[in-house]
Amino acid sequence: MKIYQVKDYKEMSRKAANIISAQIIIKPNCVLGLATGSTPIGVYQQLVEWYQKGDLDFAEVKTINLDEYKGVAPDNKQSYHYFMNKNLFEKVNINPININIPNGLEEDSSVECARYNKIINNLGGIDMQLLGLGHNGHIGFNEPEGVFEIGTHCVALTQSTIEANSRLFEKDEIIPNYAYTMGIKSILQAKKILLLVSGEDKAEILMESLNGPVTPSVPASILQLHNDLTIVADEAALSVIKLRKPASIVMELEESC
Ligand code: F6R
Repeated sequence: MKIYQVKDYKEMSRKAANIISAQIIIKPNCVLGLATGSTPIGVYQQLVEWYQKGDLDFAEVKTINLDEYKGVAPDNKQSYHYFMNKNLFEKVNINPININIPNGLEEDSSVECARYNKIINNLGGIDMQLLGLGHNGHIGFNEPEGVFEIGTHCVALTQSTIEANSRLFEKDEIIPNYAYTMGIKSILQAKKILLLVSGEDKAEILMESLNGPVTPSVPASILQLHNDLTIVADEAALSVIKLRKPASIVMELEESC
C-alpha cells in the first residue's frame, strides 16, 4: 500500500490524473476501471485538459465502469452513463466501442450480471481500477453485507447511500434503490488499484478501511489485501489516521504535491 498525502481536492485530482496518465502512456491500449461520483470529477477534468493540450491519447484505451443505477436510462441525467459522457468520454478521443458501463435498463439482473462479467473477462483484466470511497465503506456499490459478493450483482442501496446520492437529484425525481455493480473479486483482480479520498467526512471510514479488520461490513477493508494499492488522500481525509497514527499506515504516508 502506498498513500500519497495531498493538500486538498485539487491536488488529489492532479496527482491521480498523473498516475492515470502514466498508465495510458506506458500502455496505450490499457483497460481502465472507472468510477463516478464527486470524487473523480476533478481527475477527469485534468485528464481532459491534458488531452486537449495533446499530451494524452485515448484512441486505444478501453474502459469499464464500476456501476450504474438499475432502471435509469443512459440518457437520463442521473445515470452514470450520462455522467461519464459529460465528464470524460465526450471530451476525449475514446472509441465508443471501447466503453463499458452496466445497462441500467436491463430488468433481468441475471442477464445483465452475466453479460457484464463476460465483458470483464473478455477484456483480459483491468490494468488500473479507480475507486472512490462511500461513507459506509462501500466501493463500487458493494454495500456493507454479510459476505463479499464476488461478481457483478444487483444491489439494494443502503439508506445512507441513497441519502448521500440524493444531493444529485432534483426534488421531484425518484432516487433509484437498486444498482448494478462490479463485484469485489473483479475489483481485486485489477492489476493496480487507485483509491481517492477527499474530505473530513471520509476520515473515519478511511481509517477503518485501512486499519480495521478485513470484513464485508466495511467492503473497502478488502483493499488491504491488494498488492498494488495506491491511495491519494487529502489532509482532511487523513485527519483521523494522522491523529491516531496506526504504525502500519503512518509508514506508508508520503507527502506529495
Ligand atoms: C461510483 C462509485 C461509488 C463512489 C462512492 C463515493 O461509481 O463506485 O462507490 O465512489 O459512493 O462517492 P463520492 O465520490 O460522490 O463521495
